[in-house]
Amino acid sequence: MSFNEKYSKICSLVKSDISKLEEKLTGSINLSPSIDEVLRIFLTKNSKRIRPVVSFLYLRACGITPDEKQYAFQTVIEIIHNASLIHDDVIDESDLRRGNLSLNKKFNNKTAILTGDYLLSAALRILNCLDTPETISLCVETLEGMCQGEVNQYFNKFKIPTLEQYLKKTEQKTAKLFQTALKGSMLLAGITDLNKAEKFSHALGMAFQIRDDILNLTRRDSLKPSQNDIDEGIYNAPVIFAGTTSNLNEGIAKTMTLLNNYVNEASDALNKLEESSYKLALEELLGILKDV
Ligand code: IPE
Ligand code: MG
Repeated sequence: MSFNEKYSKICSLVKSDISKLEEKLTGSINLSPSIDEVLRIFLTKNSKRIRPVVSFLYLRACGITPDEKQYAFQTVIEIIHNASLIHDDVIDESDLRRGNLSLNKKFNNKTAILTGDYLLSAALRILNCLDTPETISLCVETLEGMCQGEVNQYFNKFKIPTLEQYLKKTEQKTAKLFQTALKGSMLLAGITDLNKAEKFSHALGMAFQIRDDILNLTRRDSLKPSQNDIDEGIYNAPVIFAGTTSNLNEGIAKTMTLLNNYVNEASDALNKLEESSYKLALEELLGILKDV
């Protein structure tokens, strides 16, 4: 079975949760008749929805049935994620996103930036309705980190960072949003012992980005633009381990070990959960993340 086939099977357990979230997601758009339809397609076509999928599976593995608040919060997470992708495509001058033209290519940079800003306002509106200070703080800190990670990366192009700097950027750009997605949902469900959930979602988020950084160099993907991070001056774990931008084989092998370490950390954090189809699905997801 391919990654996509295995991933679809994992998602099928929370299909109804994802449908509810998607209803809210497309229902939250009211920017302009010239943009709304394109934006709705952008928001719904070809996204894996991995942050909500992981959160819903984990909640259900803990015996929690997601409710309206959970759907609203996961909508906020997906809106933040999508706004970051739209802005990222402007920064990277990417033409393609999820196999479609990026918004900057379809319209122009100005429209894409405004659309991303609009999405952030839509996220704020929903957060405001949820009226829980903890989830607002979580989202604020996460957004701050995402901006800091991205700006740092931009100002350090064509420099090989230290592993520590790379891990911090990876946490800020990606892992925090995975963590916030799950932590916010657990808080909304009234759970206060969040240690394992935090460890799990952080490690999974790190693994997800590290895997993406490997794939960026090893796989040509029809859904993504063809230039790679190295051409753009963005040097990630494979370059750091190799110490150079050429001869990357050893750097990639060491990055696989780093990826496996995070997958194992996430897997350990699942240990205490009772056996269930949801827990099994999370374990399967960790299994396919190792598969690069
Ligand atoms: C892409 O995220 C950006 C990264 C953090 C690697 P996803 O791969 O989750 O994007 P979609 O929503 O599924 O397209
Ligand atoms: Mg980028």
